[in-house]
Amino acid sequence: MLWGLLALSLPSTAFSSPFQVPLSFQPTPATLPVANSTESFWIHTPGANLLANEGSTGPLTQDADICIIGSGMTGVSAAYHLANAVDEFALKDVKAVVLEAREFCSGATGRNGGHLTPYSFSNFLQYESDFGTLEAVKSLQLENRTAMAIVDLINKNEWNDIVDLVPGGHISLISSAEQLVSLKAEYLAAKKAGLDVGDVEWISEESVKETYGASYPAVKAPAFNLWPLKFVTQLYLLANSSAPNFSLALHTHTPVTSVVPLPSSYDRKWNLHTPRGPIHCSYVLHASNAYASHLLPQFTPGRDREMGIIPTRGQIVAVRADTPINDSWRASWGFPDYYWFPRPTSSNASANPLVILGGGRETIGGPTFEQFETNDSVVNKDVGEALRAFLPRTFEGMFKDGEDPVMEWTGIMGYTSTKDPFVGPVIEETPSSSNVAATEQHASASQFISAGYNGHGMPRAFSCAEAVAGMIIATLRNDKTWSVPEWLPKRYLTWNNQN
Ligand SMILES: Cc1cc2nc3c(=O)[nH]c(=O)nc-3n(C[C@H](O)[C@H](O)[C@H](O)COP(=O)(O)OP(=O)(O)OC[C@H]3O[C@@H](n4cnc5c(N)ncnc54)[C@H](O)[C@@H]3O)c2cc1C
Ligand SMILES: *[C@@H]1O[C@H](CO)[C@@H](O)[C@H](O)[C@H]1NC(C)=O
Ligand SMILES: *[C@@H]1O[C@H](CO)[C@@H](O)[C@H](O)[C@H]1NC(C)=O
Ligand SMILES: *[C@@H]1O[C@H](CO)[C@@H](O)[C@H](O)[C@H]1NC(C)=O
Ligand SMILES: *[C@@H]1O[C@H](CO)[C@@H](O)[C@H](O)[C@H]1NC(C)=O
Ligand SMILES: *[C@@H]1O[C@H](CO)[C@@H](O)[C@H](O)[C@H]1NC(C)=O
Ligand SMILES: *[C@@H]1O[C@H](CO)[C@@H](O)[C@H](O)[C@H]1NC(C)=O
Ligand SMILES: *[C@@H]1O[C@H](CO)[C@@H](O)[C@H](O)[C@H]1NC(C)=O
Repeated sequence: MLWGLLALSLPSTAFSSPFQVPLSFQPTPATLPVANSTESFWIHTPGANLLANEGSTGPLTQDADICIIGSGMTGVSAAYHLANAVDEFALKDVKAVVLEAREFCSGATGRNGGHLTPYSFSNFLQYESDFGTLEAVKSLQLENRTAMAIVDLINKNEWNDIVDLVPGGHISLISSAEQLVSLKAEYLAAKKAGLDVGDVEWISEESVKETYGASYPAVKAPAFNLWPLKFVTQLYLLANSSAPNFSLALHTHTPVTSVVPLPSSYDRKWNLHTPRGPIHCSYVLHASNAYASHLLPQFTPGRDREMGIIPTRGQIVAVRADTPINDSWRASWGFPDYYWFPRPTSSNASANPLVILGGGRETIGGPTFEQFETNDSVVNKDVGEALRAFLPRTFEGMFKDGEDPVMEWTGIMGYTSTKDPFVGPVIEETPSSSNVAATEQHASASQFISAGYNGHGMPRAFSCAEAVAGMIIATLRNDKTWSVPEWLPKRYLTWNNQN
């Protein structure tokens, strides 16, 4: 029954999942990230991944207060927020270590579409009818909060050129009259609830055709695009240098293969096994997104479970446009089941830009729409064909038909049947009652998770990681007065998200 809930009706960067699970489907935990993954533009452009193999040789850290599993947007944001908290509370000698199975940031964050698109009103009606107006408002405000925090950090540290931040907005092409009607309804409801939709702009088909070259009406809203891996790299370096009493280590090519409790005679609670040896920690943060169920079987996707995280393979191509573009095109873009943006052409306005295009998964369908798939060492040929056909068809004369992409890759997203991420203490197979106070929920916890962003993590993961870092620090400080941040939608919390 729950599977049916996954159908969304979003414009643009929403990666919805209307699918049916074959009756023969047997839920199994995710694999570890696979070897020989496809090469992405973000990771494999020479010189892009400064920390690619950091800490992969030499001695392994053996002991830390906090072990973070995963070096994507979530894991590294958590490290950054932990560093801030160490300063804020004048803590002494807090040690954290980030463990990464492959190269640095080689999961979804290093393979994604590069859109930092906080939705202004999409989903509002569904959120409101499912969870009430307050939660609906919070859900969208969290996205704006996250995007603004990322952009502020970039501005403050002058990373704009390093991370190629483009504040060009997001243009959703509207594919049908029905979609237009439903978007307008979402927009009006969001506006009525007090959300700031002042910068949302509706553009007629004629005007889209004239300015941008596609024959669809559109809606444009504030948004950004950037080089996600480079942002995460800068964030790691900042976290590593900003608090004198916070020591951070990174070990790439170090998969965690199990997390087991240590006997009570040890100072630390958890033993993380890796092929390079064990690491003892007091707290563990699972920032492993699509792969979370490999170590936490309670997140195994299953027919009748709300707590599963479903690994879902997305695919991207980088294609060279056949013409230069003008400034108005320098946005990020969406169309149901496709999302794209032109890479900045720096100072050369007459160069043809490289366009990063993802999607095609729902267009091709198939039995599972690329779900339950962790193999990002291969591309899906049918998705590849859908991607190749999309831009030439949509923007007449701007892309060569039949042109092969410059690069093509896949990456694994983490979908959930609730459509929301899981944020908070890891809850055992049989969850405790959901009305236990928040402070009690985290006070005794020592494993935490923030994962399952449903293909829309850029405007959420940084804040979710902040919430979970706050819980870890409160627990470490034995602060019983700490409470869940106001800005976090309550239903994201693991203890509210159970069967
Ligand atoms: C093709 C694609 C396109 C996307 N496009 C967009 C977009 O345009 N905008 C948007 O908002 N979102 C997009 N997303 C989603 C977005 O990238 C994710 O929501 C976000 O990056 C999640 O960050 P994360 O750190 O939680 O996960 P990840 O970046 O996947 O990081 C998890 C890390 O954990 C590591 N790991 C896993 N298990 C272990 C283990 N046992 N031991 C050690 N390490 C482990 C993995 O190797 C990985 O590096 C896209 C995703 C994909 C795949
Ligand atoms: C990924 O898929 C390819 C092609 O089917 C296969 O050769 C390879 O073994 C798979 N890798 C894993 C880790 O399953
Ligand atoms: C990947 O493939 C190469 C050869 O193509 C092989 O040498 C290597 O062991 C494989 N695995 C990893 C983890 O790189
Ligand atoms: C770091 O800890 C030391 C003691 O271990 C303390 O003297 C110092 O003030 C701390 N520094 C900061 C910036 O909190
Ligand atoms: C986003 O947040 C900023 C403050 O950081 C606020 O000024 C703006 O109105 C918000 N926008 C939306 C769409 O909520
Ligand atoms: C952008 O380019 C299109 C197509 O080449 C052109 O028709 C349009 O006028 C240009 N728009 C702007 C704002 O320059
Ligand atoms: C992290 O900081 C330490 C201490 O300053 C430094 O030795 C190390 O080189 C830094 N790591 C990275 C990846 O910059
Ligand atoms: C700008 O791009 C055009 C088209 O690719 C190219 O011919 C020209 O040499 C480039 N100019 C510079 C300064 O790189």
